[in-house]
Amino acid sequence: ERADAVPRDLAGKRVVITAGGTREPLDPVRFLGNRSSGKQGYALARVAAQRGAQVTLIAGNTIEMAPPAAVELVHITTADQLKTAVEKHALGADAVIMAAAVADFRPTSVAGAKIKKGKDEPDSIALSRTEDILAGLVQARREGQLPGTAIVGFAAETGDEDGDVITYARAKLARKGCDLLVVNAVGDGKAFEVDTNDGWLLGADGSEQALDHGSKALLASRVLDALGPLLREQAR
Ligand code: CTP
Ligand code: CA
Repeated sequence: ERADAVPRDLAGKRVVITAGGTREPLDPVRFLGNRSSGKQGYALARVAAQRGAQVTLIAGNTIEMAPPAAVELVHITTADQLKTAVEKHALGADAVIMAAAVADFRPTSVAGAKIKKGKDEPDSIALSRTEDILAGLVQARREGQLPGTAIVGFAAETGDEDGDVITYARAKLARKGCDLLVVNAVGDGKAFEVDTNDGWLLGADGSEQALDHGSKALLASRVLDALGPLLREQAR
């Protein structure tokens, strides 16, 4: 796509995008983490900025990537830090896109010093739930704190004997209460750490759009295309 063919449809819009994975410390040298590369979130930030948006990219752990041009980049490590950063930057934003892979659990206690191997069998690691940032945004909007902010979630799903990817994703969208859910089918080397993505875009209005296999930049464009009408709606 030629640079001059990129629409400037997001000019004047402020968009917050999260990317990468959180890391939850266990002791000063160890953490619980995940395999998110951050590529999809970075692609969203890059394309949104190209389309004229004022973008804040809140990034956890990612593979090494050049920071997208003309994007405010904020680095976080833990789910708790991500929550604080999202809450700060979401105020007054036109959209928040939660592409980050947020830890669901963190070690309940963080040892102040490195845990030693010792002679005995290891202790189990006690875990506590982290807060659901996306659900928190939806709740805040319901309470009137984020008027006019469109909220987009991501879900990496696998099907199993009880349901297929779409069925689980529909239920997740309903549970989360966001406006759009970008669904990636994972497993078999899909989605994680690769340059391509495919899946579905589910809308709170019941809409369902297949996202054809393609680059993460292409998927980013499709997501931003779907966001456009929501921004206008919310602005009314
Ligand atoms: N998310 C979040 N805060 C969390 C966990 C997830 O904001 N503590 C966001 C993710 O950024 C993503 C969406 O919620 O946009 C869906 O994440 P996912 O892990 O698929 O959903 P969960 O509700 O955590 O369900 P599960 O992992 O059990 O499938
Ligand atoms: Ca999760």
